[in-house]
Amino acid sequence: MANTVVVGAQWGDEAKGKIIDCLAHDKDLVVRWGGGSNAGHTVCVGDQEYKLHLVPAGILNGNTLNVVADGVVIDPAGIVEELTSLKARGVSCTNLKISGNAHVILPYHRLFDQLEEKRKGEKAIGTTGRGIGPAYQDKAARIGIRMRDFCDPKIFPVRLAQILDIKNEILVKLYGVEPLVADQIVEQYREFALFLKPYVDDTALVVARAAKSGKSVLFEGAQGTLLDIDLGTYPYVTSSHPSAGGATIGTGLGPTQIDQIIGVAKSYTTRVGAGAFPTELLDDTGNLIRERGREYGTTTGRPRRCGWLDGVALHYASLVNGLTSLSLMHLDVLSGFDEVKICMQYSFDGRSIEDFPSDQERLSRCTPIYKTLQGWKDDVSEAKTYDELPENVKKFVETVEKVAGVPVTILSVGRRRDQTIFRPYSKKISGSPSLS
Ligand code: IMP
Repeated sequence: MANTVVVGAQWGDEAKGKIIDCLAHDKDLVVRWGGGSNAGHTVCVGDQEYKLHLVPAGILNGNTLNVVADGVVIDPAGIVEELTSLKARGVSCTNLKISGNAHVILPYHRLFDQLEEKRKGEKAIGTTGRGIGPAYQDKAARIGIRMRDFCDPKIFPVRLAQILDIKNEILVKLYGVEPLVADQIVEQYREFALFLKPYVDDTALVVARAAKSGKSVLFEGAQGTLLDIDLGTYPYVTSSHPSAGGATIGTGLGPTQIDQIIGVAKSYTTRVGAGAFPTELLDDTGNLIRERGREYGTTTGRPRRCGWLDGVALHYASLVNGLTSLSLMHLDVLSGFDEVKICMQYSFDGRSIEDFPSDQERLSRCTPIYKTLQGWKDDVSEAKTYDELPENVKKFVETVEKVAGVPVTILSVGRRRDQTIFRPYSKKISGSPSLS
């Protein structure tokens, strides 16, 4: 398939980086469409582990062109550090283009993010503190600075001084902190602008032409559907569009050019930050999943909240993204349990519901109704084909397909590239997604 969108089908951290890395090898382009350095993609190539935040995972694949598109918010210091460390490890970064329209995260964005979280106290979102929300806020308010202007030594100081006039009023009068000095920021960021300028381009045209001309383009999602500012569990969401539609906003990809949409979901559920999480396990099972799955944030190191697979949420993600297939991750992490569970419905105000309520108020009143399946003791991490997997794993996968309403075509049984089972799948999953 030519143009493929890879989207997180949960609350982020679904191991999308691994799948993108596996799929990128025969792609002409890999395009990151949204979010910023709040994302963290861990990719293992042989015995080498790479932690990527802004640079698309296709950078590890030699010939693929990688694009950081218009919808991404870029922390210049962060991306320079990432590129420098990749180069130091022998990764060529010449195949990278950064959209001139992407917005830049500056010190006041981080500051506002952290001050606002502090001000919210118990109601804090639990953001990554990377300035993501404030940067998207400025973009929508039309007081943001785009990459092209950031790299222009004549434009950046002028724009920054105008914007800091407003920001400093708020910093001093609302938060009672010291104002920022424009000249210091210009000085501090000069080197970053010089470093990044050669990468800046009109990427929407590059992507649009490639997508239309039959080149194969992979669209790399960050975060997950349930963190989408519209479709997610608002207000405990990020400020961008991690759902599949986001791939067509500000990348140059027209909606008619999408050939397939692969959802990525773990075999259980995790969430970082605050917000309702019906299948969360606050017991030894949750702790065991966290330890076995190494469920600690790539970006912040925070322990992730863990729980059984939430089929109601997956069903919703499948529908609203228009998934064509699913990639089921971390199956090896569930090895060893006597039984494993999948939430098939919620109990809500004394009745059973199958539809995911994407708001904090209703979701926080939902409790899971589980289907319990027999677990598997076998180590599945070296399985090379679907047929080699134990019967109980297959039953688990079939139940996931039923709730998602789409076939599971990729299964991951470990962190390495070669611990991935591609399952050519012709069988149609009957009917529309149904939990019955
Ligand atoms: P922000 O994106 O830093 O504003 O954080 C908003 C919410 O999204 C918080 O709950 C974060 O923990 C969550 N979040 C942001 N990026 C990621 C990610 O890559 N994985 C998982 N959660 C994320």
